[in-house]
Amino acid sequence: MYVLGIETSCDETSLSVVNKRRVLSNTVWSSLNLHAEFGGVIPEIASRQHLKSLSFVFSRSLEKAGIGKKKIDLISVVSSPGLIGSLLVGINFARALGYALGLPVIEIDHLKAHLFAAFLNNRSRINVPSLGLVVSGGHTELYWMQGFENVRVLGRTRDDAAGEALDKVGRLYGLGYPAGPLIDKLFDLSLVNKRLFEIKGLKHTLDFSFSGIKTKAGYMYKQRNGRFSKEEKIGILSSFQYGIVSHIIEKINSALSQYKVRRIICGGGVAANFFLRQSLIELCRRKKLRLFLPDIAYCSDNGSSAAGLGFYMYNMSKGLGNNNQ
Ligand code: KG4
Ligand code: ZN
Repeated sequence: MYVLGIETSCDETSLSVVNKRRVLSNTVWSSLNLHAEFGGVIPEIASRQHLKSLSFVFSRSLEKAGIGKKKIDLISVVSSPGLIGSLLVGINFARALGYALGLPVIEIDHLKAHLFAAFLNNRSRINVPSLGLVVSGGHTELYWMQGFENVRVLGRTRDDAAGEALDKVGRLYGLGYPAGPLIDKLFDLSLVNKRLFEIKGLKHTLDFSFSGIKTKAGYMYKQRNGRFSKEEKIGILSSFQYGIVSHIIEKINSALSQYKVRRIICGGGVAANFFLRQSLIELCRRKKLRLFLPDIAYCSDNGSSAAGLGFYMYNMSKGLGNNNQ
């Protein structure tokens, strides 16, 4: 069974071929360089670039997988949430291709696809009570889940997403866009001031909030007119990342005290962050939980996760069960 996954929810045009959960190709083309000067993704530019790139990314993806288009059995496309123009380009491409090839097209959820990334290229059971965490540039959400058809939101950010906060503060401190991966590289635990960006509010809920510490980082920058030594700057950015990760871990701990789960599944662009990964590994070791983290290549938006989830959802909708290892 060959599944073509199509992901165009933001700036990445990604088409991948997956056989059950085994990735045969993961082709990602990004228009990120065209957005960098604006400090964020410009929806109009992203949609137009998807239109330009879809055909060649599709050909490249089939070539890498070593199959022709007639071999495809199912098309899975991300249909929400995301930038509406960008999503529509992907959905219409999927539907036209499905019509031309006489194939079923399944529309899937972007955030669930981020979580499915942890199940690519392995045969782990899916249908187990779990805590899910999506941390990306657009979302920060916590779920109770059992399989992918039984998912309940426990909490979500009330303002910025974790990636968005990292990007905005990093950009202010001169790192450009997107700053998340660069802060990750610069991060130095020995320079962290743990109190500096401690998030104190929202103790009574599983919702997140990052805008308070983002504003604080902005004030600090203004107070000093942006004049910092290199070490000071790394210290501030490391403390900021520490504050974000600590808030996430605190919310997971709270959720674990309320819900009985056997494992934690994490996905989204920020799941590539080394300190967050280490913190989750440590937490799961202490709590004796199993941790599902995607390979770095499948943390950010990609068609493989869309294809894997599409195959799973298609089987469930046909009553074929989730035995798709
Ligand atoms: O999941 P994604 O590719 O797109 C959305 O659905 O939003 O996530 C992109 C976000 C950006 O904010 C980016 O800065 C962040 O993920 N990101 C990282 C890292 N790699 C990507 N943040 C922290 N550490 C990283 N290594
Ligand atoms: Zn995403």
